[in-house]
Amino acid sequence: METKILKMNPFDIDFKKINIAAEIIKLGGLVVFPTETVYGLGANALNENAVKSIYKAKGRPSDNPLIMHFDKLEKIKDFVYISENLYEKIKVFIPGPITFVLKRKNIVPNIITANMDTVAVRIPIHPIANKLIEMSGVPIAAPSANLSGKPSPTIAEHVVEDMKGRVDIIIDGGNVDFGLESTVIDLTEDIPTILRPGPITPENLKEVFGEIKIPEFIYGKGKVDTAKAPGMKYRHYAPDKKTILVEYSENRIDIIKKIIKNYKNPLLVLFEEDKKYFNGYDIITSGNKNDYYKIAVNLFSILRTADKTNNDVIIIEGVKDKGLGISIMNRLRKASSEIWGE
Ligand code: TXA
Ligand code: MG
Repeated sequence: METKILKMNPFDIDFKKINIAAEIIKLGGLVVFPTETVYGLGANALNENAVKSIYKAKGRPSDNPLIMHFDKLEKIKDFVYISENLYEKIKVFIPGPITFVLKRKNIVPNIITANMDTVAVRIPIHPIANKLIEMSGVPIAAPSANLSGKPSPTIAEHVVEDMKGRVDIIIDGGNVDFGLESTVIDLTEDIPTILRPGPITPENLKEVFGEIKIPEFIYGKGKVDTAKAPGMKYRHYAPDKKTILVEYSENRIDIIKKIIKNYKNPLLVLFEEDKKYFNGYDIITSGNKNDYYKIAVNLFSILRTADKTNNDVIIIEGVKDKGLGISIMNRLRKASSEIWGE
């Protein structure tokens, strides 16, 4: 398949170009587009064959459901059951980097939901994503635009790496804003439950919902409730190379010094502040140790870069399980083949 690449400035949108992509969506084709979280691989959510081709292009298992993306919140009402009370609450976050799991109506194609009785809905704030959905005139089903198992793409170069030849159009809208996929929250029970931590933090959610549940698997512990969170059982984001995560602690420098003795040629992913302890080693900087936004936005890109070097192992420093740090650590734990704590 020939893939057309459309370059676009998110701050000065070219409606003609978006229209080309919207026409492809209407015809049942595949369009990769930037969002505020990561790049998405989109198709007309109401066209079963088009949605099938998403799973094929990604190599994604068919038991892992997709998110339906809308341009406006009102439009979800045709597809999900939601109380007025809940609707008022979720408005606070919309549009933005959050996905709501709700009871679905029959009109939602089974292929999107992997036959579950719920569906995930999201209203992105990214101007290109939002306009593309609006001009397509249909909801867009879109997973992250990576090959299954790889880190989600946060820059167009990584989309091209994974998706060239597999999709009709790639919209290159530059870098994303957050670099971690949207927060997924299940609203089908009395107390909302986080299924995937993301840019909207537990603190943000508590302000609106009051009580929320954060299952243990979010922190890499306990068992994933696969009936509720089918996507979380897969090992994601994993570089092909051995990846060791060193959890945050005061002793982290000593722990890393101990680990590196076992390897010939390690690549260290370190905080700016910690580089000075490892002169002479190959190092990629993740950001200042308290700058979680920067660490998050660079994370997937760093994992991809690290995988391409000729080092024999990646050793990466973790952050605290606090705020956005919970989302960073959730991805890092999934990416790692070995985890060292204190
Ligand atoms: O930021 C994002 O959410 C990006 C952009 C493109 O919007 N999309 C994304 O999609 O990350 P994907 O397919 O890579 O991740 C969606 C997650 C998966 O873990 C999936 O299992 C879960 O949402 N999910 C989808 N529908 C669900 C449902 N009905 N119940 C529970 N989890 C669901
Ligand atoms: Mg994904």
